[in-house]
Amino acid sequence: MTTLANKVAMVTAGGAGIGRACSLTMAAKGARLVVTDLHIAAAETVAAEIIAAGGEAIAVRCDIGDETSISDAVAAAEAHFGRLDILHNNAAMLSDEALALDGDILSVPMDVWDRTMEVTVRGTLLGCRYGVLAMRRAGGGSIINTGSIYGLRAANRMPAYSVSKAAVHMLTEVVATAHGREGIRCNAVAPSMMRTPTLDRLVPRAIVDYNEDAALLPRMGVPQDVASMVAFLASDEASYLTGHVFPVDGGTMAHLPTYGDERRFLEGVNR
Ligand SMILES: NC(=O)c1ccc[n+]([C@@H]2O[C@H](COP(=O)([O-])OP(=O)(O)OC[C@H]3O[C@@H](n4cnc5c(N)ncnc54)[C@H](O)[C@@H]3O)[C@@H](O)[C@H]2O)c1
Repeated sequence: MTTLANKVAMVTAGGAGIGRACSLTMAAKGARLVVTDLHIAAAETVAAEIIAAGGEAIAVRCDIGDETSISDAVAAAEAHFGRLDILHNNAAMLSDEALALDGDILSVPMDVWDRTMEVTVRGTLLGCRYGVLAMRRAGGGSIINTGSIYGLRAANRMPAYSVSKAAVHMLTEVVATAHGREGIRCNAVAPSMMRTPTLDRLVPRAIVDYNEDAALLPRMGVPQDVASMVAFLASDEASYLTGHVFPVDGGTMAHLPTYGDERRFLEGVNR
């Protein structure tokens, strides 16, 4: 079984959704957690859950749109636990307003485009920078960035989000290339649409259904699916894996675009 005993892990946007699941899962596998979020109350709730389950955790406010906030959070991790072994750069520009306005390249407001690049790309780069500096002091480590299948293939909407996630994927390769010889690994997970409270609040049911239909497995992805992969990539069992983007997508990226329509046709023919 994957163990993260004696490791110190920091997660950004750890207060909800995928980041919450990753924080709880890594703590359950023995890591000491620095749960960070823009909203400190959310991070505190997750840290309290970890402590209640017998683990070790602190909550730190971290806005990845602000360099000082990121460097302070990494410093807090080192000050409290003495080192940083694992950094999950999971946060992205996710405000309801930005996602609503990120429609297409003709209409996306440039301030939404700029802010998305500033938070998601620049923020993840800075996470990697301060993470690498801390991991040098620890003698190595594992960085996991959260990308998206939207950064692998074009979707109908969300050009800013999609381009920012493609940049996160390339950043992952860049960091892995530059720092592998220091024992610092860097990988990314690229989730498909995952069932989270934000998804249920923002995404129309029909869009959720189309995404579920595009998976090869007969269910929607959930944050725990991503958390299992993140915990594995964080662990020493993944010690020869670096520089890769791993889709966590129920097989969504594995087939031709015609898969869903063909499947329905063949089901009709064979009935
Ligand atoms: N849920 C999905 O379907 C899905 C699919 C692919 C990729 N992702 C990616 O997974 C990551 C997490 O998404 P989620 O769906 O779990 O989100 P979520 O909406 O459930 O939670 C987002 C969290 O991010 C925090 N946050 C927002 N802005 C922040 C900032 N500037 N700095 C730090 N924290 C901030 C919020 O406070 C909140 O706790 C994101 O990078 C997202 O792009 C999600």
